[in-house]
Amino acid sequence: MAPIEVKKIVCIGAGYVGGPTCAVVALKCPHIQVTIVDVNQSRIDAWNDPDFNLPIYEPGLVDVVKGCRGRNLFFSTEVDKGIAEADLIFVSVNTPTKKSGLGAGFAADLNYIELATRRIAEVSTSSKIVVEKSTVPCRTAESMRTILEANAKPGCRFDILSNPEFLAEGTAIEDLFAPDRVLIGSLQSQEGLDACAALANVYANWIPKERILTVGLWSSELSKLAANAMLAQRISSVNMLSAICEATGANVDEVAYAVGKDSRVGPKFLKASVGFGGSCFQKYSLNLVYLARSLNLEEVARYWYAVVEANDYQKNRFAKKVVDTLFNTITGKKIAVLGFAFKADTGDTRESPAIDLINHFLSERARVTVYDPEVQESQIMLDLTDYGAKPAEPIQKAVTVCPSALEACKGADAIVVVTEWKEFVNLDWQSIHDTMNKPAFIFDGRNILKRQELKNIGFKVVSIGTGDRL
Ligand code: UDX
Ligand code: ADP
Repeated sequence: MAPIEVKKIVCIGAGYVGGPTCAVVALKCPHIQVTIVDVNQSRIDAWNDPDFNLPIYEPGLVDVVKGCRGRNLFFSTEVDKGIAEADLIFVSVNTPTKKSGLGAGFAADLNYIELATRRIAEVSTSSKIVVEKSTVPCRTAESMRTILEANAKPGCRFDILSNPEFLAEGTAIEDLFAPDRVLIGSLQSQEGLDACAALANVYANWIPKERILTVGLWSSELSKLAANAMLAQRISSVNMLSAICEATGANVDEVAYAVGKDSRVGPKFLKASVGFGGSCFQKYSLNLVYLARSLNLEEVARYWYAVVEANDYQKNRFAKKVVDTLFNTITGKKIAVLGFAFKADTGDTRESPAIDLINHFLSERARVTVYDPEVQESQIMLDLTDYGAKPAEPIQKAVTVCPSALEACKGADAIVVVTEWKEFVNLDWQSIHDTMNKPAFIFDGRNILKRQELKNIGFKVVSIGTGDRL
């Protein structure tokens, strides 16, 4: 049989995953028409913005969209039309963590996936390849298949693939242009393998064949959770070592360097920090915990839960260190927080350690100033309010968002670096020191600052995982 040729793709969901991924597909496959649909009108309007003020900040994304929007890349709210016309459908909707009911706080809420799947069944009048792009629990494809088959019009068949996305924010475009691997999971039936080959051929337009891995459907679904949980586990491991370093006088960066030189371990993702954030690591580790629990694998669940507990411990430990170092009280003191995004080169604040830290400081009745080069004031206030703690003072009164690092640090008792933005390394630290209350403390939650230079200026510097005394 001739391979299935994909001519029209629709992507349901124009978010962090669907938007950049399918924009790159369009750029690299000019012969395929790609339509990204979303129910959110303002998001689609932003993707269609004439000045390219896109809804997502990612280095290189604007150039990708400029390269193909209006040519073979379209953004639309006409979800049904997009589905009806497509040969291949990426399902890229949100899968937030459940807030209530069974599995609350752990399990993924699959409501959006189900609604999108039902829509596909309802409006399709021809056969489709349906691709799970959103991260979903193992065996979600089975539920999708049941819904599709129960509601399919005569003559329509649906082949379901799993094709998880491994891009990291801030490097999304780089990751999409040259991924370590593309993973496609399918049923091992002839139809499943044919659908898998059709999607593999799309990626083969720019990705070397040996990087396109094809596996069983359930392995593919599980691999996404596994990859995230294992990366999170590496960071928690190094962060737990950082506590030992602080107590012994060892240096965690040196330890990570030495350990990472072992080619079996490798050097990446061993940077000790104030704790990991982002929309994925905690969420998918907890999804894995839930999966293990629902399979009655309590010891397995406990193992993965420890990764998240260690992260909470690290954030608390760091916040406590700030208070302890400032003579056991920060009441009425001014703490300047540099960085609010969960990591550098993104404006995303989901699960950012900054949110926990600032709330800790507020609960101790400190005044907090914040500067982040990418995050808007409204987002910072929203995140701090949504956290749900009841600080002594209203957040609007206790927190001031500043337009520069210099402004945020003016008159501060302590500076806390939470995000590893490059610009923090070479600030005019002498001028900052001049404006601060003395002794002037810096807590480097990312170990990025030039410690000795700061000490020479007169700062009291506290880093993660060093036994150095002040
Ligand atoms: C992650 C995965 O890397 C990606 O493959 C998956 O598709 C989505 O989740 P992302 O959340 O964008 O990507 O960011 P990542 O670069 O992985 O960082 C996650 C968090 O870990 C950040 O808060 C980062 O600062 C922190 N981190 C990372 C460390 O603390 N130390 C490290 O060594 C690396
Ligand atoms: P992710 O980080 O996984 O990409 P986002 O929340 O950024 O998640 O994006 C998911 C997008 O999916 C949202 O813009 C949301 O409006 C959209 N969406 C959810 N359900 C549907 C649906 N049934 N049809 C179309 N779009 C949907």
